[in-house]
Amino acid sequence: MLARAITHALVGLDARRVEVEAHLQGQTPSFTIVGLADRACQEAKERVRSGVRSAECEWPLGRITVNLAPASLRKEGSGFDLPIALAVLGASGQVPRDELERHAAHGELALDGRVRAVAGVFAVAEGARRARLRKIICAATCAPEAALAGVEPVPVWHLAEAVAYLRGELEPEPVAARNGAEPPSWPDLADVRGQERARRALEIAAAGGHNLLLAGPPGTGKTMLARRLPGLLPDLDSEASLEVTRIHSVAGVLRAEHPLVTSPPFRAPHHTASAPAIVGGGRGPRPGEASLAHRGVLLLDELPEFARPALEALRQPLEDGVISVARAEGTALYPARFQLVATMNLCPCGARGDPAVACSCSAQRLAAYANKLSRALLDRFDLLVAVPRPRARELAGERAESSQAVRARVLAAQAALASPPRRSDEANALLTRAVERLPLSGRGRSRVARVAATIAALAGSGVVGPQHVAEALSYRAPKELTSL
Ligand SMILES: Nc1ncnc2c1ncn2[C@@H]1O[C@H](COP(=O)(O)OP(=O)(O)OP(=O)(O)O)[C@@H](O)[C@H]1O
Ligand SMILES: [Mg+2]
Ligand SMILES: [Zn+2]
Repeated sequence: MLARAITHALVGLDARRVEVEAHLQGQTPSFTIVGLADRACQEAKERVRSGVRSAECEWPLGRITVNLAPASLRKEGSGFDLPIALAVLGASGQVPRDELERHAAHGELALDGRVRAVAGVFAVAEGARRARLRKIICAATCAPEAALAGVEPVPVWHLAEAVAYLRGELEPEPVAARNGAEPPSWPDLADVRGQERARRALEIAAAGGHNLLLAGPPGTGKTMLARRLPGLLPDLDSEASLEVTRIHSVAGVLRAEHPLVTSPPFRAPHHTASAPAIVGGGRGPRPGEASLAHRGVLLLDELPEFARPALEALRQPLEDGVISVARAEGTALYPARFQLVATMNLCPCGARGDPAVACSCSAQRLAAYANKLSRALLDRFDLLVAVPRPRARELAGERAESSQAVRARVLAAQAALASPPRRSDEANALLTRAVERLPLSGRGRSRVARVAATIAALAGSGVVGPQHVAEALSYRAPKELTSL
């Protein structure tokens, strides 16, 4: 007897249809799975056999061969357990085969038959929708995520429920697509006293999606400021929302109760994070922090503390907005168009840039510190800002402007930037002079031009004037940083 279950395998963020065929013949007991990686196959066999017994079904007597087709496709993850188990039960006549073929199924089995959540159910369900399957049998905790993809989920906690459902003995619980996400609560800019210049740069960064580096002595509010950037950004539009949800699903970081991501993601990996953790890789391969920050903010707090390979790996996505992750049969492409905000001290002891304290770093240590940040990486920051120690008077002052007020200006500027402003002749002349004087790289020039356009938009000006270019240039090479 032959039975077939349908599921999907992920290739990057793409779901490819996989048919799980189970063939039962003869009397000699054996169980073979072909079409899976060797180790995964052995593990799946154990879980499936044990799961089926725990679901009060019979493990069929005879030679069972399971084939995951197409064989050429590399299948990773444990989501194939459930369709394999159902196909085996179909082949032995314990669930109706025609019903089975009308459904997608995806989930991991525990040894006691419970169905476990796996990463990527949103993307898998999208595949099921494209394959015109109306329903997907999946772990109950993944059901809201599957529903978002426009496929009716059949939520199950245990393999026994999936069996009962396919036999028509159990009605699945209806699951509504949960579009209403919980608005995140970001800390408020009103908490940051003084630091007018850094606040201004933060507003420009938010309005234009520019990369921002805040540098200065310890305890001046750099981390505070950086963490307040996401609160200045607009919500994601519906297309971006689905795109980010897909990435977060594949990485397994969606929240079960609010699977739809509607606000710009904010990721702040620790400085001990490895290059694969930041740009992606490993098994799957999994998207990294840079992809999880797609259409949102990536904060690298204490930039020079990050391993140099991790920082260098960010150069490609900072330029192209995508990351290619090497895998056995070619490369997977993950989107990674994020806004980078970073903080740093000006020297290892932290005193540099602070008139009240003397720096105790040796010339050697200073050089090693500066060496950690390549010119190529620094060139990708549009806004470099020195954050000095605030005056006592500033710290004692009134609460500053709130995030809400700044966000309103950011949204207006973004609307204006939808039609890029023209540059005046004087603005062009100033830009040309700066290329030679600073000097600016080709990349630097176009980045300054973009920042100037953002500044003009914030000022409500339809034309980029020399004053806008001048301000943009002032963030390009502050002396505190160029002397590093
Ligand atoms: N400008 C400021 N306004 C209000 N509070 C501030 C300011 N600067 C620092 N603080 C206070 O100091 C604490 C530390 O600030 P923060 O972590 O942002 O410093 P930092 O510049 O990132 O320092 P480090 O270089 O050591 O990481 C904050 O939690 C806040 O209580
Ligand atoms: Mg800090
Ligand atoms: Zn120092």
